[in-house]
Amino acid sequence: MKRITKGAIALILCSVLLLLFQDERLFVARDDNATTMTTSKRKTNSDDTSLAKAMEAVVRLLLPEERVEPYLQELPKEFRFFVYDSLPSNWTWQYFSTCIEQRYNVPDWFHHVQNAPPNPRNRTSNCDWGASICSQTQSSSSSYSSRRFNRNGDVVLSKLFTEYRGSSRTFDAQDADVFLVPYPSTAHCACVSDKAKCWAVKEVDIQQHVLANLPFLTDDNLEKHVFLSSVQRDFNHPFMMRMPLLLSLEMTHDVCPIGENCGHILQPYVNTNADYQPNHMNLTPGLKDRRYAVTAFMSGNIGERSFRLRYDFLNALSKMQANNTTMGGLPVYVGHLNNRMMDNETAILEKYRESIFCPCLRGNTPAQKRFFDVLMSGCIPVVIEYASSKEEGYPSFFKKHETSIRLSYPFAKGMFLGEPDMGIDYHDLVVTVNSTCGMDCMLARLEELIINHPEEISAKQQRISELAQLFSYGQEDNALQYPDAVAAMLVQIRHYVSKLTSHSRQ
Ligand SMILES: *[C@@H]1O[C@H](CO)[C@@H](O)[C@H](O)[C@H]1NC(C)=O
Ligand SMILES: *[C@@H]1O[C@H](CO)[C@@H](O)[C@H](O)[C@H]1NC(C)=O
Ligand SMILES: *[C@@H]1O[C@H](CO)[C@@H](O)[C@H](O)[C@H]1NC(C)=O
Ligand SMILES: *[C@@H]1O[C@H](CO)[C@@H](O)[C@H](O)[C@H]1NC(C)=O
Ligand SMILES: *[C@@H]1O[C@H](CO)[C@@H](O)[C@H](O)[C@H]1NC(C)=O
Ligand SMILES: *[C@@H]1O[C@H](CO)[C@@H](O)[C@H](O)[C@H]1NC(C)=O
Ligand SMILES: *[C@@H]1O[C@H](CO)[C@@H](O)[C@H](O)[C@H]1NC(C)=O
Repeated sequence: MKRITKGAIALILCSVLLLLFQDERLFVARDDNATTMTTSKRKTNSDDTSLAKAMEAVVRLLLPEERVEPYLQELPKEFRFFVYDSLPSNWTWQYFSTCIEQRYNVPDWFHHVQNAPPNPRNRTSNCDWGASICSQTQSSSSSYSSRRFNRNGDVVLSKLFTEYRGSSRTFDAQDADVFLVPYPSTAHCACVSDKAKCWAVKEVDIQQHVLANLPFLTDDNLEKHVFLSSVQRDFNHPFMMRMPLLLSLEMTHDVCPIGENCGHILQPYVNTNADYQPNHMNLTPGLKDRRYAVTAFMSGNIGERSFRLRYDFLNALSKMQANNTTMGGLPVYVGHLNNRMMDNETAILEKYRESIFCPCLRGNTPAQKRFFDVLMSGCIPVVIEYASSKEEGYPSFFKKHETSIRLSYPFAKGMFLGEPDMGIDYHDLVVTVNSTCGMDCMLARLEELIINHPEEISAKQQRISELAQLFSYGQEDNALQYPDAVAAMLVQIRHYVSKLTSHSRQ
């Protein structure tokens, strides 16, 4: 496995270097606009150490108390990253996010014959593609608004890192532990193809315009270059999937075998809603302000046709709602989704915040945006648990013999090489229903918990209230200063890189 990875890296670098020799100018081939835009701001605010503190807070959340101090002490000095500002202007987050908005946030998105109308009310979504904090309250037939939820992560991250000026950023490449490449590859795919199909993006173009514009990339440090993507695994650009250090929504099994240092790092789905900023989430454990026992917003006809779990579940819950049947004395709520899309995200999130349980039943891929939305709303996800997955010792919340918990959700236990107890144990946050029983057991199990084991519910709510901030992305004024998803990804990146160093010293 190691050898294959190393070989692949060597191959990629060879082709890059070949390109460089063909055209020496590529080293300095930068867009004038990009250069003038950024050079004036080449200064860190070295007083701002809040990101370093936030990363320490993340470590405290992810490790058992007795391991925290030893872990922090073993870390190499201060962690600093370098953010490239040398990409041509039409390879930046600004360019791609504007492209997507102009092409798809329009009434007739399918033919995308018009540019975005000047009156925001005539767009399909009131939100941009991730540049700002925005509560989506408006969406219509455009898939812009639903894709926006699932695929804007690399734009969000590119912007955060590009704009960051705190002390964890260095402008001296010699001083850098890692190098961030703010090329939002998924946004690029979404800009050129309405289905975000990456075949429309040529590998040679990424090499010539992205890799060739990274002046500090050498054949020794590709493993320390952080690349960005934000889409389910099959939709990722194959080139990005070969990068050893990649932030993405999902990964394939073979890149991250148990016991190996893995640089494919999972990100939570982004929620740009103003109430889901890390410092705004005010989760109080307890049943008192939860009006509903169960809330469900999901489409019944997703995944394989033969798989009726969601359909059966929605049927049962809808009947309860229609008959005013309560669960442990509380009503249930079945919400409407318009062809898999949230018409009004803000209204749906309000319902999650009023509910005790929010089932997250299998969709097309292991992780779902819903899973993070409900956790950040303090609602307990209910999942079907399959004892066997593709990885021995790790169950799956997705399918029998399929993706394990470890490879489904970010910052999971088992992803930090050499620290087996580091990471989130997702069993602490969810209610599982044994797959051998499935739907038949689910509603009965939830009722049983409400009536007979409220303390189990409180314990989960408590743990969720501690960890939920790790799924939120601080943006704008909240960027890179709270123990949020971005700080947690940096902790995982730092962990991965520290294992690389100790490896090569041997
Ligand atoms: C620089 O930006 C200006 C204004 O946005 C644009 O007209 C011009 O084409 C850009 N130049 C390049 C080389 O992209
Ligand atoms: C950016 O502009 C260059 C030069 O015009 C072009 O070759 C390249 O394909 C463009 N990139 C994108 C992503 O459109
Ligand atoms: C744009 O919005 C305005 C106000 O909501 C409306 O009167 C107008 O008909 C809309 N135009 C189009 C082309 O949809
Ligand atoms: C109400 O409950 C009964 C008995 O469980 C069921 O047969 C009926 O379909 C329910 N009514 C509705 C409108 O779902
Ligand atoms: C359920 O409750 C609502 C509101 O109280 C009432 O209007 C409706 O008739 C009830 N439905 C049934 C089937 O009892
Ligand atoms: C969306 O939901 C929010 C919260 O319930 C509400 O204030 C807003 O008016 C709704 N927007 C639309 C367009 O229905
Ligand atoms: C589910 O139940 C079966 C049969 O009782 C049992 O063998 C299995 O270990 C259980 N699975 C989990 C994940 O607890």
